[in-house]
Amino acid sequence: MRELKILGVVVFFTVFTYIGVNTYAYSVMKPAVAPADFQFKDLPRNDKIGDASRGAEVFMNAGCIGCHGLESQGIPAPMNDADAAASFGVVPPDLSNAGLIFDSHFLAAVIKNPAKAMLNDHKFNESNPHPMPNFYGLGGDIDQELADIVAYLQSIAPEKVSDEQVYVDACMQCHSIKYTGLMSNKDPILMAKYMGSVPPDLSMFIRSRGADYLETFINNPQKHLAGTAMPRVGLTQAAQEQVVAYIEYAGDRKKDERESLGIKVLGFMIILTILAYLWKVKIWREVH
Ligand code: HEC
Ligand code: HEC
Repeated sequence: MRELKILGVVVFFTVFTYIGVNTYAYSVMKPAVAPADFQFKDLPRNDKIGDASRGAEVFMNAGCIGCHGLESQGIPAPMNDADAAASFGVVPPDLSNAGLIFDSHFLAAVIKNPAKAMLNDHKFNESNPHPMPNFYGLGGDIDQELADIVAYLQSIAPEKVSDEQVYVDACMQCHSIKYTGLMSNKDPILMAKYMGSVPPDLSMFIRSRGADYLETFINNPQKHLAGTAMPRVGLTQAAQEQVVAYIEYAGDRKKDERESLGIKVLGFMIILTILAYLWKVKIWREVH
């Protein structure tokens, strides 16, 4: 009877610590945030229907290729990485896949006002403008021109790209992943000057924070780190899942192997338990 009481006390404190204290500490240290918003509801809606061929003209005339390459269309980046980083702090990404990986509302909004769409307008002002200028239109209906550029980028985008490519297009101008050898073309000093801090290497991020954190963080970094310089990247849900899959591949390559091994180990333990039990029954039968 005494043993049962001791067991009861141990069970009580274990359950109390695990469910009560642990849950409370977790909620304080890692407050819940709203789920990722892949509709980008805070951004103005642009319901104009874009025309890709007009978009090609607008795109060329708007000066985008003064900073961005469009490799798939035979337009290389206008500057080498070092010069681009020196001018802008980061290297403007190639836009060949932009129409596929970025959400269309986000794209229109980021072209019109980059700092606002990327949610880092607190970092920029008139004397320290965002390196990508606002688009004020070419004289026609600006919403139509924006929709046309988006339609153009979508028309030249491939149907699908690899997980690694999404990472290269969306994150690599700022972050490295040492484990897979994808090093950002950034110069840490210029980067820190531009962003206020050097973006961390993402090799092990999947282990320290996990996929759920990445899912809401990439979609809106301000939710987790208010005032952070990390821009909202504006990926579609599918593209964002690809990035997270890539980060997982980089930092936790043995996950599948580990999980399938776990099942085998459990099966082994169950069989062993049954054998041990049968053995015990046999021994006792002989004793009596
Ligand atoms: C003066 C240079 C410059 C011009 C002109 C420019 N951009 Fe950019 N653009 C940048 C830089 C620099 C970045 C990266 C900024 C960052 O990530 O902080 C960028 C980022 C982008 C992104 C990525 C957004 C994201 O979420 O990662 C898109 C899409 C884009 N530009 C499209 C365009 C289009 C379309 C045009 C033409 C209307 C254009 N840009 C004109 C410099 C420029
Ligand atoms: C224009 C530069 C830029 C781009 C593009 C960018 N990041 Fe970041 N990122 C930063 C900066 C700067 C920080 C550091 C933020 C801070 O400490 O406030 C950061 C921080 C992070 C962190 C750490 C968050 C934490 O809790 O400490 C993660 C994870 C991350 N970025 C993931 C990504 C992913 C994934 C992408 C691509 C989808 C991406 N970033 C694109 C600049 C960038």
